[in-house]
Amino acid sequence: DKKITIAIDGFSSTGKSTLAKQVAAHLGYAYVDSGAMYRAITLYAMENGFISPTHFDKQGLIKNLPDIKLDFRFNPDAGFAEMYINGQNAEKKIRTLEVSSLVSHVAEVSEVRAKLVEQQQHMGENKGVVMDGRDIGTVVFPNAELKLFMTASPETRAQRRYDELTQKGEAVTYEAVLKNVQDRDYIDSNREDSPLIQAVDAIVIDNSTLSRQEQFELVLGLATEAI
Ligand code: C5P
Repeated sequence: DKKITIAIDGFSSTGKSTLAKQVAAHLGYAYVDSGAMYRAITLYAMENGFISPTHFDKQGLIKNLPDIKLDFRFNPDAGFAEMYINGQNAEKKIRTLEVSSLVSHVAEVSEVRAKLVEQQQHMGENKGVVMDGRDIGTVVFPNAELKLFMTASPETRAQRRYDELTQKGEAVTYEAVLKNVQDRDYIDSNREDSPLIQAVDAIVIDNSTLSRQEQFELVLGLATEAI
């Protein structure tokens, strides 16, 4: 049975992870949320005083990178793998708006990217993986058999992220979430190292015009063709 690699990139909150999880579960593939890894490094940097809304000690963080061990551990109750930092479950803490507001600055650092890309490539070396992020089809797996690029209007995206955060009990405003989504997209698309761009061979999926079920069926059809 031939296994393939599926790369899903796109702007924040376009429904990448929902689709990726669904496709991975259906194919019996592993799902890897690469954004969780950038969020985890950001949480570590916050908790160790390397970054705050007013300062960023890049060199301090870079020096400490070898001490940060990230791994995903499957939680059968949740039905997906959760992020662990040095053996501690960090899944909840990495999803806050505070982490979201700093993560794009951490993701600009080449040393951070090199560390995470290496681990991501290792996780995908036997194929049979669906990975979502910003540079999966361009940098992490440029030879992926199937590449998708997801888009949606900023308002659709902010609403999605706002609903997610308020469901978890975080006190946020729609305006703050919309601003965060727009800021991150700007930084992610304009950074020097591995900016968010559509791979030339990626297929565009617009989340504001297709239902979840339509997206799922479309991608499953494409995956079946590629396998
Ligand atoms: O996917 P998610 O929104 O959780 O990603 C959080 C942030 O991590 C992104 O806004 C981006 O700055 C960074 N990221 C990245 N490359 C990836 C995945 C995420 O730079 N492959």
